[in-house]
Amino acid sequence: MLEVQRHSPRPRPNGLNKALPLVDLAPAASDLRRDALAGLCATPKTLPCKYFYDDHGSWLFDQICTLPEYYPTRTELVISRRYAAEIAAACGPQALLLELGSGSSTKTRIILDHLRAPAGYVPVDIARDFLRHAADELAAAYPGLPVVPVCADFTQPFTPPALAARRTIVYFPGSTIGNFTADDAAELLRTIAGLMGPEGGLLIGVDLRKDPNMLVRAYNDARGVTAAFNLNLLTRLNRELSADFDLAHFQHRATWDPTPGRIEMQLVSKRDQAVHIDDQSIEFRAGEPIRTEYSHKYTLDQFASMASTAGLAVRKVWTDHARLFSVQYLTRA
Ligand SMILES: C[S@@+](CC[C@H](N)C(=O)[O-])C[C@H]1O[C@@H](n2cnc3c(N)ncnc32)[C@H](O)[C@@H]1O
Repeated sequence: MLEVQRHSPRPRPNGLNKALPLVDLAPAASDLRRDALAGLCATPKTLPCKYFYDDHGSWLFDQICTLPEYYPTRTELVISRRYAAEIAAACGPQALLLELGSGSSTKTRIILDHLRAPAGYVPVDIARDFLRHAADELAAAYPGLPVVPVCADFTQPFTPPALAARRTIVYFPGSTIGNFTADDAAELLRTIAGLMGPEGGLLIGVDLRKDPNMLVRAYNDARGVTAAFNLNLLTRLNRELSADFDLAHFQHRATWDPTPGRIEMQLVSKRDQAVHIDDQSIEFRAGEPIRTEYSHKYTLDQFASMASTAGLAVRKVWTDHARLFSVQYLTRA
């Protein structure tokens, strides 16, 4: 497996001397310990995928987005560029863009470039330093646009900053919705319906069902970047919880499970071993997995029907020619 370089600290963007004020509603450090111990002591063992995204994990995710096997980002960008005018028309003028899981805010720029008189941009992400940098860069590129970054876990209740706008458009690209089981995704869509309000909308990227071989390749890239991203979770537990995972004794695995229609990513113990966090000893058998991420893939009908259980109706769907990925606009039903 390729050794993926650590990224270096990023300089402040040109044209911006001071960092933007950030609304810090980040989960407490103790949440990681609690969630990691609960997941690793459960059967089967799990770790929540939101903890992939420390600063290095966020950077690794951006590397994944450029891989030849990883079609979702490339395809969502193509759709967003091709239909930018229609997407902006659906969102309407003077909209506040509230983005969940904004990462590097790359796709956002296509939307902002086409929105009529956007009222502001609120990127929400759990990865504080990465968010801060992405928001600073975006604010430098869009002078005059109010930008208020919020570091928060969007699965927990939070109140976004109140900015004057005609309506709120919740933007949720990257098929991050696929990381949730159907019940949790429906619950999150209900939360989103609350965030967007009665006049607002949801602009969401949803990955579609396709040839399983293409899916398995996308999560098992030849350069091993996805493997490094997955294993970085253990490095994070070693650093932040003083755990003693030996990364040489775990390996990345990503498989397609046709019944729920999802890729399941795991870290598999290569041998019998014990790992320690605090005074807890966590025993692994050879071949035993830790489930680290689901990526559900939907048909258009499946997604529409799940959204309807959350009180949302699909108003527009844009896809690529091969129907690999979709960008969808929803409002309250
Ligand atoms: C799959 S990446 C998508 C990034 C970007 N939106 C895109 O489309 O390329 C998921 C993003 O959501 C963030 N994230 C994941 N779980 C989160 C949570 N529970 N609360 C807030 N942000 C979260 C991650 O830090 C990461 O930036």
